Amino acid sequence: MDSLNTKKFYVTTPIYYVNARPHLGSLYSTLLADVAARYNRLHNKKVFFLTGTDEHGLKIAQAAAAVEKAPKEFVDSFIEPFKDTWKLYNIDYTRFIRTTDPDHVAAVQAWIMRLMQQGLIYKSHYAGFYCTPCETFVTEKDLADNNILNTVPLCPSCGRTTEYVSEESYFFKLSAYQDKLLQFYQENPDFITPRERMAEVVAFVTSGLKDLSISRTTITWGIPFPGDTHHVTYVWADALNNYITGVGYATPGQEKEFNFWWPADLQILGKDIVRFHAIYWPAFLMASNLALPKKLLVHGWIKVGEHKMSKSRGNTVAPLELAVTYGVDQIRYYLVRHLAITQDSPFSYDELEQRINADLAHDLGNLLNRMLTLAIKNNLADVAIPAQWSGASQALHEAEKNTITRFITEMEHGYMNRAYGIVWEYIHEVNKYFHVQQPWKVIKDDQEKFAEIISATCHALYGIAYLCWPLMPKKMEILLDQLGIKMASGSDIFALLLSTPWTKKFNLKNNETVLFKQIEQKKEITMTEEIKSVQKLSSVHQTIGIEDLTKIELRVGTIENVQIVEKSDKLYALKVNFGPFGIRQILSGVRKSFKPDELLNKQALFVCNLAPRMMMGMESQGMMLVAKEGSSLVLMSPATHVTNGTQLS
Ligand code: MSP
Repeated sequence: MDSLNTKKFYVTTPIYYVNARPHLGSLYSTLLADVAARYNRLHNKKVFFLTGTDEHGLKIAQAAAAVEKAPKEFVDSFIEPFKDTWKLYNIDYTRFIRTTDPDHVAAVQAWIMRLMQQGLIYKSHYAGFYCTPCETFVTEKDLADNNILNTVPLCPSCGRTTEYVSEESYFFKLSAYQDKLLQFYQENPDFITPRERMAEVVAFVTSGLKDLSISRTTITWGIPFPGDTHHVTYVWADALNNYITGVGYATPGQEKEFNFWWPADLQILGKDIVRFHAIYWPAFLMASNLALPKKLLVHGWIKVGEHKMSKSRGNTVAPLELAVTYGVDQIRYYLVRHLAITQDSPFSYDELEQRINADLAHDLGNLLNRMLTLAIKNNLADVAIPAQWSGASQALHEAEKNTITRFITEMEHGYMNRAYGIVWEYIHEVNKYFHVQQPWKVIKDDQEKFAEIISATCHALYGIAYLCWPLMPKKMEILLDQLGIKMASGSDIFALLLSTPWTKKFNLKNNETVLFKQIEQKKEITMTEEIKSVQKLSSVHQTIGIEDLTKIELRVGTIENVQIVEKSDKLYALKVNFGPFGIRQILSGVRKSFKPDELLNKQALFVCNLAPRMMMGMESQGMMLVAKEGSSLVLMSPATHVTNGTQLS
C-alpha cells in the first residue's frame, strides 16, 4: 500500500453489477479491501473505504427486461442482499455508492462537461463490435490478436459472441494519452501489484490506443449525456468515476473532503477488469488534472474446477450459506490467507475444512485454550509482569517483532495472503515455545517460572490478536477479551508493539467459549432454518414469485460420459456438455433406475446454478432433473434436439 507515511488511507472495491446476489468472487474483492482498511485503522490512520454497485448499462437493462421489471426497480431489489452480505461479513465500509445516486449522476455529467470544454470529448460515429456481458467495445487490436477479421468475433475477454454496433457516439481522446501513460508506468513500476500484470498493460498501450467511445444511443438506461438527450453515458465512463464522485468530486461544498481523500491509496480489482482500471481510468484522471491512484491490487479468480466462479456459469457459492455453516471469520480467513493474490485459486470445501481444523482450531484456538485452562486451574487469572524474562521468552519477543516487520512489508505491497503466512509461522513458534517450556511440569516446583511462561504466551497472543484483527475482527476481539484486554485505539498499534517492551498485565477469563470449533464431520451445505430466516424467504401459502423462479437456472445439456462412483451404490458421475457454458461434472443418484447406456448421449434438463457440493469426495456442479413416478425415475429430455446450454424460460 506504500502509504506508511500518510495519515489517511482511501481504499476502493470495484462496484458490482447488480444482476445477481453477491457470490464468493464479489466477497473476495470486498474482503481484501476490508482487511486493508482495518490494517490501516490499526496504524491509526483516517480511513475511507468505498464500495457499491454498478447499476447502469445494457447488461442490467436486459436482465431487468427478462423479469419484466423497470431497471430501477430491478436494481433496487439487489441492494439489500449486497448490504446484508457485507454486514454479515463485518465489512466496515464508509460509503456504499450506487451509480444511480443523484450526487454521482450530477458529478459524472459535470466531469463530461469539463472534458468537453477542454476539447477532450468530441462527437463522431462508432462502428464495430460490442460485448454486452463485459460492456466493452472490442478493439481492432483484439480482433487482430485473435485473427478474426472477417467473422463476428468472440469477446477477447469472456469468449462470448459480440454484436455489431453502428451508432453516433461521443469519443474520449484516449489516443492523446498513450505516451503519458507509458511514461507513468515506467516511472511507477509498483503501480500494479502483482508486477507481472503491468507487462500486459504496457503491451496493450504500446500497440496503440484509439479514442474511446463513451456514449450509447441504443439504450436509455444510463446517465443522460449532458447537452445531448439522444445519448447515455457509456457504463464504464460512468462506473470508473465512482472512485472520485464517492469522495465528493464535482459536488458543491465537498471540495475539501475530496482534496483530503483523493488520490486513492489502494484500488482493488479482479484481473478481468485490468484494462479499464490501468489504462482508461488513469487516462480519465490525467485528462481531469487529477492525481493517479497510488496502487492497483489485481487479484486472480476463484475457480470451480476449470472455470471462473460466475453467475453466468451458474457455479457460484453463496457467502451466506458458507457463513452460517462455517462461521464468518473462518471464511474471511480461508479466502484471504489461502487464495493467492497472484493467481487463480480453486475453491474447495475439503481445503476449507482442513484449514479451519489445522490453522484455526488447532494452531491458534488450542494454544489459547491450553494456556487459559492451565493458568486458571493453577489460580493464575491475574498475570503480572515477571521480574525477569528467560532467554526463550526474549527470543519469542524478538520473533514477534521480526514477524510484525515482515507482516507490514507484505501488507504494504498488498500481498495479504503472504502477510498471514508469516503470522502463522509465528503462531507455530509460540506453540513450540509452549510445548518446550512444559509449564504443566514447571508448575509443580517453580510458581514464578510458571507465571513467566504464561505471561510470555499471553504477550505473544496479544500481538497475534492485533495482527489477525484485520482478518478476523470478531474472533480477535473475543481473544483479547479472554486475555482481559480492551482493544486499543488512538495510536499506531504496530509501532507500539515494535517499540515497547512486554509490560502488559493480563486478567484471564475462565471463559467456556471455544474460539474455533473443530469440524468433526463433513458439513452439509443445506438450506437451514437460519439461512432461510436471513434470506427472509416468504413461506406464505408455499407460493413463490416470478423473481424466485428466475433464480433457478435450468439448462439443457447432453450427457457425454457416465461413470460409476465406486464408493456409492446410487451415484453416477456424469459429464454434461452445456455448449458455450462448458462441460460440467454432475453427480446424480439415479443408478438404480438407469443403466449407463440409457443416459449416454441423451439430452436432459439440469439446474445449473446450484452451489457446487462434494459427494463421496467428488464435486457436483449442478443437478439433473428427473420425474419420480412411484418408485421409478423418468429422464426429462426435450421432445426434439435443442442446442446444448439452452436455458428454460
Ligand atoms: N461493474 C464492473 C466493475 C466496475 S468498477 C468501476 C464489474 N462488476 S462484477 O460484478 O462483474 O465484478 C466485480 C469484481 O468481482 C471484479 O473485480 C471481479 O474480478 C470480481 N469477481 C467476480 N467473480 C470473481 C471470481 N470468481 N473470483 C474472484 N473475483 C471475481 O466487473
